[in-house]
Amino acid sequence: MNLRLADRMENAINPFISDILRATARKDLISFGGGLPNPASFPVREISEAAQKVLSEDGAGALQYSTAEGYPPLRELIAARYQKRFGITVDPADILMTTGSQQGLDLLAKLFLNKGDDLLIERPGYLGAIQAFNIYQPNYHAVPLRKDGADTDVLEEILKSCSPKLFYAVPNFQNPSGLTYSEQNRKRVAELMKKSGTIFVEDDPYGELRFAGSEMPCMKSFLGEDVIMLGTFSKIISPAIRLGWVCAKPEIMKYLVAAKQAADIHSDYFAERVVCQYLQDNDLDAHIEKIRTMYQERKNCMVEMARRYFPQDVSFTDPEGGMFMWVTLPEGMSAVELNKIAAEKNVAFVPGDPFYVGERNVNTFRMSYTNSDANVIEKGIRCLGDAMREMTASR
Ligand SMILES: Cc1ncc(COP(=O)(O)O)c(C=O)c1O
Repeated sequence: MNLRLADRMENAINPFISDILRATARKDLISFGGGLPNPASFPVREISEAAQKVLSEDGAGALQYSTAEGYPPLRELIAARYQKRFGITVDPADILMTTGSQQGLDLLAKLFLNKGDDLLIERPGYLGAIQAFNIYQPNYHAVPLRKDGADTDVLEEILKSCSPKLFYAVPNFQNPSGLTYSEQNRKRVAELMKKSGTIFVEDDPYGELRFAGSEMPCMKSFLGEDVIMLGTFSKIISPAIRLGWVCAKPEIMKYLVAAKQAADIHSDYFAERVVCQYLQDNDLDAHIEKIRTMYQERKNCMVEMARRYFPQDVSFTDPEGGMFMWVTLPEGMSAVELNKIAAEKNVAFVPGDPFYVGERNVNTFRMSYTNSDANVIEKGIRCLGDAMREMTASR
């Protein structure tokens, strides 16, 4: 039978994402590929205690249907954390719980994007966002990332010819580059957003994982209501719990709630109750501090090994937080090709291609340092350095 799918599914399938997930399951592989938090960071005992408490104190209530917006006390805790981190006041009513922040991306695309609508995205950009947006067939405008954030000259140039509805960005320890926008860069981006009437979508899954430098102001502190913030518990508690949120002004929120109801009625209410209990009974800051220390050690090790084993003409980022390092090979070298040679040596990373819109065989790739100890990092980076030299020799 002829499937007769909707036109919008034309670019929906991204083989890279399935490959990455498959690769994470291969036990013999040194994988710097998947962006998985280190399982040693999961608060297993505390979550178990929180779940038991919720079940014994209000089991029937916690297992019932709930509202699309999510459990009010949890949304209050999220709002209080914004106040604590950034000194900004967020009304808990402006927070909608989602099934991971990934769902937030899908809901926003559903709300805002008609086919062919102009959309700003970082270059490179988060592949999961590109996957979510592709289904709505926007007209992408790529804003290159520099060391200090978005390239505002290019952004200004783009904004002369169109007025995109959204700029989707990850200003802290970006996925995939690990780069962070400087305060000055944030201010300049905010000015340009104001002028063009573009809503800035600030996705911040990694912001709490800062292990060097100082906290940056959030974009909302410059743009107020004209920012939509996305957050998640995936990287600071557990990704399996699938709890994230969108924070948006009431005129947007009412549509988000409708889209959320249509998608899945509400997020996992039991998970919301358990996470809320966990947050009430535990010191999240102390927990996050442990994750930061764990990731900082691994990042330091990966940077040191890359300096030692990568050829001189290969560059890489040295992130101040988050989970990723971004590597740039010399011009003309393909990271997809390198990936094939590396796979023979049982080392995996994510070639840059899926992080770009419409560019292929790029010379960049992403490595995650969160899940490997020092010995594994040294072995993997040494093999990668060898693979790079083999590739250069065979050109
Ligand atoms: C930038 C960014 N946004 C959103 C997500 C989705 O995370 P989750 O749905 O687990 O909250 C990820 C996951 O890696 C990410 O890197």
